[in-house]
Amino acid sequence: MTIRPDTFAYIRDTLHQRTAIHLMDNKEYLVETRLSVLAKKNGLRNVDALVDQLRVPGSSVLWNEIVDAMTTNETSFFRDVKPFEVLRDKVFPALMEKAQGTRKLKVWSAASASGQEAYSIAMLWDEIRRNHPHWDLDILATDISHKMLERCKNGAYSDLEVIRGLSQRRLADNFHRDGDRWLVDDRLKERVDFKYMNLIHAWPSLPKMDVVFIRNVLVYFDHPTKCSLFAKVRKILKPNGFLFLGGAESPLMIDDKFERVFDCGGSCYRLKSEAPHDRKNRSSYR
Ligand SMILES: C[S@@+](CC[C@H](N)C(=O)[O-])C[C@H]1O[C@@H](n2cnc3c(N)ncnc32)[C@H](O)[C@@H]1O
Repeated sequence: MTIRPDTFAYIRDTLHQRTAIHLMDNKEYLVETRLSVLAKKNGLRNVDALVDQLRVPGSSVLWNEIVDAMTTNETSFFRDVKPFEVLRDKVFPALMEKAQGTRKLKVWSAASASGQEAYSIAMLWDEIRRNHPHWDLDILATDISHKMLERCKNGAYSDLEVIRGLSQRRLADNFHRDGDRWLVDDRLKERVDFKYMNLIHAWPSLPKMDVVFIRNVLVYFDHPTKCSLFAKVRKILKPNGFLFLGGAESPLMIDDKFERVFDCGGSCYRLKSEAPHDRKNRSSYR
């Protein structure tokens, strides 16, 4: 069975309005598969009935649940490996050289899904901190899905999830067993602040960041949304800060104020600077 064209159009348009997620016209099956469970949960016979209900003013069907169901939350610990090596071996040392005065850095994991990205950064930092005990790192992790944020805060992962990306050493150092789950140690939890945030809204409450991870979410957005997102990243990134994108994402043809650095497949960028002095410094990051 397939959903009605007006059902698909309503979900496609409203989802885009609310999240900027861009559903192609051939994605009816995706809407049907993902929303069928929600329809059943609400005692409705199918997705058409769910959307009819959703369109009624004051409906009990919550958009939050539609967003939870329609977002793709695929992630893993140390996803793609290389970005985290670049973070540890290049980015943190470069930032620490410049922040001797405060000895404090701030990282934002935007679109953090179930939290593996933020906890990977926290684990790396713990390893670095063994040799730099007087340094501090704040990690902010945000997502639009309330269900994902709940998972992040619980910090509970299955065997399958920890196998994807964690070495035995890191698992033993940072997690403890609880029944059939692995729980992140409180030490790491305390380092990460998980918050709801819709990337397409304004970011007035964000402090300036040393590092921004916005990985594997731009792929769901259209060109104007990507343009506005890069413009907002420029505003909150410190002048010496770094931006990490997913392997299939780039500011190329979207925003020419960023340049790729550490040319080693790490998808790491920083803001271009026009000052000759900075240009000279920049060449050392290549
Ligand atoms: C594929 S996951 C990426 C997770 C992680 N960054 C990684 O690379 O492994 C994409 C995440 O983006 C979130 N997302 C989608 N649209 C968003 C929006 N408008 N604002 C904030 N988060 C959004 C989804 O909820 C989902 O958890």
